[in-house]
Amino acid sequence: MQDKVLILDFGSQFTQLIARRVRELNIYCEIHPFNHVKVDVNNYKAVILSGSPHSVRGENVPHPDLSQIKGKIPLLGVCYGAQYLAHFFGGKVGASNTREYGRANLSNVDKSCELFNGINNGSQVWMSHSDTILEMPDNYKVVASTEDVINAAYKIEGEDTYAIQFHPEVYHSTDGKQLLENFLVNIAKVKQEWTPDSFVETTVNAIRKKVGNDKVVLGLSGGVDSTVAAVLLDKAIGKNLYCIFVNNGLLRKNEFESVLDQYKHMGLNVKGVDASERFLDKLKGITDPEKKRKAIGNAFIDVFDDEAHLIENVKWLAQGTIYPDVIESVSVTGGPSATIKSHHNVGGLPDYMKLKIVEPLRMIFKDEVRRVGKSMGIDPELLGRHPFPGPGLGIRILGDITAEKVRILQEVDAIFINGLRKWDLYDNVWQAGAMLLPVNSVGVMGDERTYEKVVALRAVESTDGMTADWVDLPYKFLQETSNKIINGVKGVNRVVYDISSKPPATIEWE
Ligand code: XMP
Repeated sequence: MQDKVLILDFGSQFTQLIARRVRELNIYCEIHPFNHVKVDVNNYKAVILSGSPHSVRGENVPHPDLSQIKGKIPLLGVCYGAQYLAHFFGGKVGASNTREYGRANLSNVDKSCELFNGINNGSQVWMSHSDTILEMPDNYKVVASTEDVINAAYKIEGEDTYAIQFHPEVYHSTDGKQLLENFLVNIAKVKQEWTPDSFVETTVNAIRKKVGNDKVVLGLSGGVDSTVAAVLLDKAIGKNLYCIFVNNGLLRKNEFESVLDQYKHMGLNVKGVDASERFLDKLKGITDPEKKRKAIGNAFIDVFDDEAHLIENVKWLAQGTIYPDVIESVSVTGGPSATIKSHHNVGGLPDYMKLKIVEPLRMIFKDEVRRVGKSMGIDPELLGRHPFPGPGLGIRILGDITAEKVRILQEVDAIFINGLRKWDLYDNVWQAGAMLLPVNSVGVMGDERTYEKVVALRAVESTDGMTADWVDLPYKFLQETSNKIINGVKGVNRVVYDISSKPPATIEWE
């Protein structure tokens, strides 16, 4: 069986980053909230305690029972985890009187400590804490300090328990990955066997075991997650996987035909359903963004439901849900009320369909989805596609949606996106698109006065869509694109470029 690492989450904003770093070492790990330690710890080769927005000195703070872990399994406390292991085991934590956010450098590194193999005095680490460990319990040995923090790292003697005040998971802790490797590989002897190929193999076997000879239905969106999920299921159960790719009439220009073709070439059992008119009909006259989203979501459910009913005896619904969507987040108030984010790519299905759910990507991150896709031979261009919202151009046409407006925006978007590809800019941009604004502006073409639509172009860089900044596209590119749009798309006489960051603006305009 594959070795696993448990990350016990105390609610730090960096917990997911710890998991990413561990996975980068080709080691499988899972995040579980501190207050849900129903997991059998014997399944894990090592445990990491995360940071937290809490102070161990507060009331009702995270305080799980570690009796099955500490001293029995290799344990690494990070930040709050380090303070926790000191405070609740006979030491003393208090408010620190110097600023301890950001850059620091290690000193007094104990070269005999395995945790610091290959890490030297002066190594930059990243701090983010307002409490500090003032007194250490008896058998705790300091193994590194910084200028402001004497107890920056320690080992509990007689145990494989280590703790560090700094954050090894953040990019600015330059030897952070080395430290995690020292702990996991050298100390805990965890095997580095988590690779895309091993993931494909174990997942394919798990799918076969789970669904047997049952039929599975999956909604393809043209995006990376649903495509990779489909290819995994196809490997596992072949023709028992029924993929449905719906044209909601709000896709990019020619996208329905070209992506459907691509899916067929990949050998997927896919049915394309052109429901454009049904969607446009449901959207008639709606201008409110949230009402549009609802109408599009409901229309999708209706179409998907109709199609799924045509598949005799289908038992399972497959979804491309990925790990960030399912990690239970620890409530910052510290209560046991962990909230669960659940994201359904198909917008949730009516209860009466009563399908069981299979989600082959629910334990992996986006970059891992791409790596898995690559290892299965999926076209890199498809894997590198920009994110595209489920409601598509519907939330990029401000105001009401008509077939003519969709046509205009598809043309504009195609010129912009093809231009980004031609200028080799596409891969430097996280997401790009065009918005059709609900205003007309005066222009002059030849000797004629025009009174036509304005479009806004938007290109952003981001890592997860939570924050984003506009991309500094070359003026020459913007000039060429604007000319092509105004000369080539009937109904548009003005192009503007959106220079707003998120926050305070969002990526989409609606
Ligand atoms: P915002 O506009 O919130 O967008 O900054 C962040 C990311 O989410 C996408 N987005 C959506 N995706 N359904 C989706 O599937 C939606 O209703 C939706 N709204 C925004 C957006 O394209 C960006 O990638």
